[in-house]
Amino acid sequence: MQFTYVNPTRIYFGQQQISAITKAISQDKKVLVIYGGGSIKRNGVYDQVADALKNHTWLEFSGVEANPTKETLDKAVAIVKEQNIDFILAVGGGSVIDGSKYVAAAAKYDGDGWDIMLGKHAVTDATPIGAILTLPATGSESNSGAVITKAETADKLAFLSPHVQPQFAVMDPDVMKTLPERQLINGLVDAWVHTCEQYLTMPTQAMVQDGYAEALLKNLLVLGRDFEQRDNDAWRANLMWTANQALNGLIGSGVPQDWATHMIGHELTALWHVDHARSLAIVQPSLLRNQLAVKKAKLEQMGQHVFGLPSGEDLALRTIDAIEAFYHQLGVETHFSAPNVTPEQAVEKVVNQLQAHGMVALGEHQAITLQQSREILSQALV
Ligand code: NZQ
Ligand code: ZN
Repeated sequence: MQFTYVNPTRIYFGQQQISAITKAISQDKKVLVIYGGGSIKRNGVYDQVADALKNHTWLEFSGVEANPTKETLDKAVAIVKEQNIDFILAVGGGSVIDGSKYVAAAAKYDGDGWDIMLGKHAVTDATPIGAILTLPATGSESNSGAVITKAETADKLAFLSPHVQPQFAVMDPDVMKTLPERQLINGLVDAWVHTCEQYLTMPTQAMVQDGYAEALLKNLLVLGRDFEQRDNDAWRANLMWTANQALNGLIGSGVPQDWATHMIGHELTALWHVDHARSLAIVQPSLLRNQLAVKKAKLEQMGQHVFGLPSGEDLALRTIDAIEAFYHQLGVETHFSAPNVTPEQAVEKVVNQLQAHGMVALGEHQAITLQQSREILSQALV
């Protein structure tokens, strides 16, 4: 174990916390409020933000889509530059927060913001950001990552920079009351897979990271099993906090990580607009079966500690079956039929995109080559 860890995002957690932004954003800042397709106008969050900022100078930019695109976000970049914006308030789910991170970084760069995603421009500065989370899933509200799509070429790429980590995140579970069931389930699944990507690798003797990851997985299992109780304060608060903790840097510190399910899943979203979480459920069971040999010990540990399965020769496989059953119980598919193409053509399309994006050596051992990805996709795409 060797790592440096800091999470500098101040968390305002609980009901009525949106009002905390009045003090959290200094009054001398000119603020751009960025949001999505309008859910915040319908559920009262926009009004709470407007009230909290009534003595601030602020503008707004709306229309950030799910799986945010460079094409839309570049319009916000222009506003930040022209209007000398010095604080960005992201109000939404992962898409709005990720999009705001791109805007914050691109606004401090003279070239095309996409250079950031291609690694051609290293981010050294960004407009400060705060976040009001409306959909618990990605952890974006207190991490330094963002995933952006170039619609023109169906490229969905990620970047990481400490400069775009939100200074604060407001997490009021009441905002979840208007979330469609589908998005609540997406949140459960995304947080689950985030935890798996940092846990289901190889044994490391990292007791804190393993133990905490297992606690988060058990929470998600309980929340999934108690899904009929979702209209309840404790259920909402527990999902919101669990999803945050799953990807705030802690459980991944000093341990191997495997983001292969995410990297392959991103291609399904970019090509066919599969919801992010659902792309993960399609890829992960096939990937785990493909990687059984190297993940066997950790799968067995998960089977015993998370699912409470009895030991035995086939425990690792039974653990994968239990993960898949968890998705099915939530009504989430673990196979996908791409529209207008045969399964073989769909596999080739995804493999070509993985190659174009340099995703040729994924997994904790960099052993998921294009050939492995092809095998995984052949099982997942039907
Ligand atoms: O746009 P609006 O009208 O707000 O509607 C959104 C959107 O349609 C709606 N919604 C959000 N809060 C709501 C609400 N509807 C009613 N009531 C509310 N309180 O939900 C829809 C989906 O929102 P979105 O932000 O797209 O979902 P999510 O939070 O799952 O974010 C997905 C994006 O995050 C990226 C994904 O790739 C995807 O682009 N990820 C970001 C990560 C990160 N930054 O660390 C890691 C993740 O693995 C992931 O890749
Ligand atoms: Zn994710």
